[in-house]
Order: sequence, then C-alpha cells, then structure tokens
Amino acid sequence: MSAHLFPDGSALPSPGLGTWKIPDELTPQIVHQAIEAGYRHLDCAADYGNEKFVGKGIASAIDAGLCTRDDLWVTGKLWNTYHEPQHVRAACERTLADLGLEQLDLFLIHFPIALEFVPFDKMYPPGWTAGAEAMSPIKVPYSDTWRAMEELVDAGLTKKIGVSNIGTAMLREVLSYARIKPALLQVEIHPYLCQNNLLRFCQEQDVAVTAFSPFGADSYLPLGMATESERLLANPVLEEIAKAHGRTTAQVALRWAMQRGTIPIPKTQSPEHLCENFDLFEFTLTGEEIAAISALDQHKRFNDPAVFGEQAFNTFFPIFD
Ligand SMILES: NC(=O)c1ccc[n+]([C@@H]2O[C@H](COP(=O)([O-])OP(=O)(O)OC[C@H]3O[C@@H](n4cnc5c(N)ncnc54)[C@H](OP(=O)(O)O)[C@@H]3O)[C@@H](O)[C@H]2O)c1
Repeated sequence: MSAHLFPDGSALPSPGLGTWKIPDELTPQIVHQAIEAGYRHLDCAADYGNEKFVGKGIASAIDAGLCTRDDLWVTGKLWNTYHEPQHVRAACERTLADLGLEQLDLFLIHFPIALEFVPFDKMYPPGWTAGAEAMSPIKVPYSDTWRAMEELVDAGLTKKIGVSNIGTAMLREVLSYARIKPALLQVEIHPYLCQNNLLRFCQEQDVAVTAFSPFGADSYLPLGMATESERLLANPVLEEIAKAHGRTTAQVALRWAMQRGTIPIPKTQSPEHLCENFDLFEFTLTGEEIAAISALDQHKRFNDPAVFGEQAFNTFFPIFD
C-alpha cells in the first residue's frame, strides 16, 4: 500500500475502494474482503445509498480483528440537497450513523450544485429528483456551505474537509476564503481526462487529489453514458504496456494514476478485481510509458451533470465549461 502524506502527518492510503453502484446485498462482504485484502481507504457518499451496508462491512472487519477503526480512512460526501448551512451537520450525522462511525476522516462537498432540501423522512438519499420531477438548483453561496463544513471539523465530526467536481477557478476562490483549507479535491481523472492544469494547481497548493472513475468508460457503460469504443481498458497503448509488464490494463491505469501523484479509488464488486486492483506495488511504469499514456488525453469527461442531467431528468446542470 502507498499513501498520500498530509502536512499534519496524517496519511491517506492508496488505492482506495470506490463504493458507488456496489449493490446493497454485496456491499458488506465486498468491504470486508477489501479490508482483508489490504485496502484501508473507503470512498463513500450518501448519494450511493449504501452507507449502511458499507458500515456493516466495516463493523464485520473490525470484529474479525482485520483492522481497527483508526487504521481506516473513510470519506463521506455532502449531497446537493443539504448545502444550506442549517442542513450540513445533520447530513454529516446521518452519514456517520449509517456508517456506524463517530468521526469521518474526510467529508467532501459532492457537487457544486445546491438543490432544494428534502427531509430524510421524505426520501433518503433523494438523488437529483427526490423521486419525482428533477429539482431546480437553488441559490446557496458555496462559501456558506464551506463555513458549515468547517464547523464539522470544529465539532469533531470529521477530521478533514474537501471538495469535489470543481475546477481551478473555483478551487482558487475557496482557498481565498477558507479558514480550514480543503485538504483534498476529488475529480474524474483517467488517461482520457488527464486534468493536467488542475493537478498541477493542486500540487502547488498542497491539495491532495483523488481520481474517480480511474477506468474511464467502464463505470458508465451500464448507465448508457459511454460506448464500447470509448473503453480505456481496451486501448492498444495500455494493452501493449500491460503486456510488457505481465499486468492488466486496469493495473496499468491505476499505476499511472498513482505515479502522477493522485490517489485512485477504483470500484469493484468482484473479489478477483478487488485483489487485482490492489496488486500494484511490484511493478513501476517508466517515464516513457507514463508519457505515452498521458498522450491519450482527449479531455473526455464521462461524469458531466450537464449531459446526464439532461438525458436522465431533462434538467441542464452545467458545472464544467
Ligand atoms: N465525487 C464524485 O462525483 C464521484 C463520481 C463518480 C465516482 N466517484 C467515486 O469513485 C469511485 C470509482 O469510480 P467509478 O465507480 O465511477 O468507476 P471505476 O472505478 O473507474 O470503474 C468501475 C468499473 O470498472 C470495473 N472494474 C473494476 N476493476 C476492474 C478490473 N480490474 N478489470 C476490469 N474491470 C474492472 C467495475 O466492474 P466490477 O465491479 O464488475 O469489477 C466497474 O464496471 C466510485 O465508486 C465512487 O466511490 C465519485
């Protein structure tokens, strides 16, 4: 396992396990098996709807003596319907209760989009539609939400706070007013979306970066948001490099992410992929191989609310230009 070291000495283990779309019934055992295989970083979100099941997996791994709570890094995310400052703490507490934890390691603002509040007893998680029509964005300054996030650190509900799905301009703005600086940015990054400027800016500002959807299209194929021809894992350049190392294209994509200084958080619900995605420490890509993979950049984003919002619920939610 490797880790990103923060200036305060805390360490974010890499790679992490993504938990989006792991079915509820498989989640406890996948989380348990991941911890057994050596994972110590779990990427969660209220919106994934499975935090209770992640919590069961964490509890069973701790009960089995595989790790202690302190060995784990658990990330949660504030959903769009809880951006108004008065809802931020309750949203974090709900996540903690579902995960069965007293404190998160990191809590992120999931998207820079505020939606109308939906009470827990009406629908949880409410997604983008709360079960009916798509909700329209409401006006909540991001700085107000950020201040409420800072209060979570003050109250000891999370050790660190961070951001997700924002670019350099908005991150610069947050850094200008943050009393507690964002420790981390989580964004889509893979060889078809290298995000060079954003990564460089974060490195200059000492903001850690987790790379979501590190395999590109594969996460989006079942959702009809990508096509087979866009599959990174079938790219001939990755295939050739994988062959040279006796590895898989998935392992090459994860090594590329790690050697660029990002922390990938691959999702899997397959025990074989779980082990494969963690078996990354016995090989190293050369500088030429990293450059050849980075040259595949197409600025291709699969997770774009402007696109999926319009397709799925006929609402245009642009956040990227
Ligand atoms: N902040 C955000 O807005 C945001 C957005 C998206 C994702 N995320 C986070 O990032 C995590 C990862 O992103 P993601 O889930 O979108 O996509 P991903 O991890 O890039 O890809 C997951 C897909 O790859 C497959 N896969 C996993 N390991 C594989 C392997 N070794 N060989 C071949 N296929 C493999 C999985 O299938 P199997 O399950 O069958 O292995 C699944 O279809 C998420 O789970 C979530 O925690 C955050």
